Amino acid sequence: MKSKILYGGLQALGRELAKEEWRDAKYTILLDENTFQHCLPLLISQVEALQEAEFIEVPVGEECKSLEVAAQVWQTLMEGEADRNAVVVNLGGGCVCDLGGYVAAGYKRGIRYINVPTSLLSMVDAAIGGKTAINFGGVKNSIGHFYPSALTVIDPAFLDSLPQEELLNGRMEMVKTAAVTNPELFQQLLTDNRLPLTAIKEVARIKACVVKSDPYDHSIRKILNFGHTFGHAIEVYRGLPHGIAVGIGMQAAMYLSVKKTGLPEEIYNAYSRWLKKQLLSINYQLLTFNLKEIESMLPLMRQDKKNASGAIRCVLLQDLGAAVIDVEVSDNEIRDALMRLTIE
Ligand SMILES: NC(=O)c1ccc[n+]([C@@H]2O[C@H](COP(=O)([O-])OP(=O)(O)OC[C@H]3O[C@@H](n4cnc5c(N)ncnc54)[C@H](O)[C@@H]3O)[C@@H](O)[C@H]2O)c1
Ligand SMILES: [Zn+2]
Repeated sequence: MKSKILYGGLQALGRELAKEEWRDAKYTILLDENTFQHCLPLLISQVEALQEAEFIEVPVGEECKSLEVAAQVWQTLMEGEADRNAVVVNLGGGCVCDLGGYVAAGYKRGIRYINVPTSLLSMVDAAIGGKTAINFGGVKNSIGHFYPSALTVIDPAFLDSLPQEELLNGRMEMVKTAAVTNPELFQQLLTDNRLPLTAIKEVARIKACVVKSDPYDHSIRKILNFGHTFGHAIEVYRGLPHGIAVGIGMQAAMYLSVKKTGLPEEIYNAYSRWLKKQLLSINYQLLTFNLKEIESMLPLMRQDKKNASGAIRCVLLQDLGAAVIDVEVSDNEIRDALMRLTIE
């Protein structure tokens, strides 16, 4: 299935949907309470083809990524006699995009869908790359497909209403992508507190490019998991938002990179200082982990999908822009890195 990313915002989407291939499309917009309020007016004022669209509101956040909500959306589509010309338009953050992609992949053996990401994290990450998912059996993203959107449109105008903490969540994933691919962009993101639109588009482009060369996550795409082995454990254990947990996870991964793969120490130091400032700016306390807590986090890290044969494997850095995947890390090295977060 062909997937296209429109970097020209909603106007580009308007032009695209005026084309012949969308003539018979019948649009249903998926949104949540926040994007209904803050994003729908902009979308329909800019894109004529969507002015008559139906819409379905789903719960905010992870709660919408469930089989029950997916079933409700399928039910509504069927009641509206949606056929193979039906198109789902996901207007929201990563949760709405993940759910809507999953719904589209299953309905009538697959209908087209359009991602209109409205959070920073979804613009630079979740809405690109064709992974769709719901949570099931208490496990995040455990059911889903590789099923790319027909279109994804990047329009930073939506960010005006996004809360500060959500902006930081997205910025962390931007810093991650830059750390493994683009040293200049990494430095820019650490020094420039504004968020240049060019940087958002650049990170989206990098993600699209990495995904294109490894759509099914077998090799190079794994570099985008930098910071995620620690990040997932911190997210689950401390209940922190994903991006922020990954930001902290990157500090631990950089610490191990200095020890194991030769990352220059000044990069680790500069990143640690930046992270501390960012966390304080949204009133987060720095994390401390005692030994007992660290022992309970180890099994969470071992469960991580990147690990073969029970050993913990991480993405580490030789330098900015030079990532190494599948580096085996011992339990003692993990303990050391997590303790280190505590005393920084
Ligand atoms: N498919 C993938 O490749 C991929 C990659 C990364 C993350 N994800 C998934 O993405 C999800 C996280 O995405 P997220 O961080 O965008 O969370 P989210 O979808 O919950 O959005 C964050 C919050 O911001 C609100 N919001 C979104 N846009 C807004 C706007 N413009 N104005 C005001 N409020 C707005 C939402 O209602 C929500 O409360 C996770 O479920 C994660 O698993 C998927
Ligand atoms: Zn992530």
